Amino acid sequence: MNQKMKIAVFASGSGSNFAAIEEACRTGELNAEIVLMVTNKPDAFVVERAEKGSIPVATFRPKDFETKDAYEESILHALQEAGAEWLVLAGYMRLVGPVLLTAYPSRIVNIHPSLLPSFPGKDAIGKAVAHGVKVTGVTVHLVDEGMDTGQILAQHAVRVVDGNPDKTAEAIHAVEHDLYKETLNELFSR
Ligand code: GAR
Repeated sequence: MNQKMKIAVFASGSGSNFAAIEEACRTGELNAEIVLMVTNKPDAFVVERAEKGSIPVATFRPKDFETKDAYEESILHALQEAGAEWLVLAGYMRLVGPVLLTAYPSRIVNIHPSLLPSFPGKDAIGKAVAHGVKVTGVTVHLVDEGMDTGQILAQHAVRVVDGNPDKTAEAIHAVEHDLYKETLNELFSR
């Protein structure tokens, strides 16, 4: 078995994807170790989840910094101290800037709740349902400077459930948790 990949997970919300990744690391299903959970939201539920799993948490609030570069330089310092080799975005609701993109070239991965390039950005599930599509889905992709525009690594279609965003979100989350693990495993074994 190859050495475990050291990953930092970035999250801003509930953290169900973080929890799925954390569990997969614990059980050995994913050959990786979460060395840091980075959040821009100190009150997010994902912080509780990380603390429960004894994962170190680093909180950086963008408003505490004068520039986006300064914000990301501080994050970068923490990532380097933790020895993170890959950055895994799991509901991190901010655009990644040049500081992190330069430090981790083609080593930042994101999951997005739509079949990109449809419905990039925030509230992708709400937008898909409002648009009346019958099928949406999940995309895992590398991160570049655009909004959900990087190289697509994996996609999975999900039916819109009863035209209802909450029910559709539930179906999407279930798919996300498996698709993220599988895609990360593939990436890390290359
Ligand atoms: C997930 O559905 C993820 O795909 C989405 O945020 C949710 C986070 O859920 N990400 C984006 O929309 C990124 N543009 P979680 O906090 O339960 O993992």
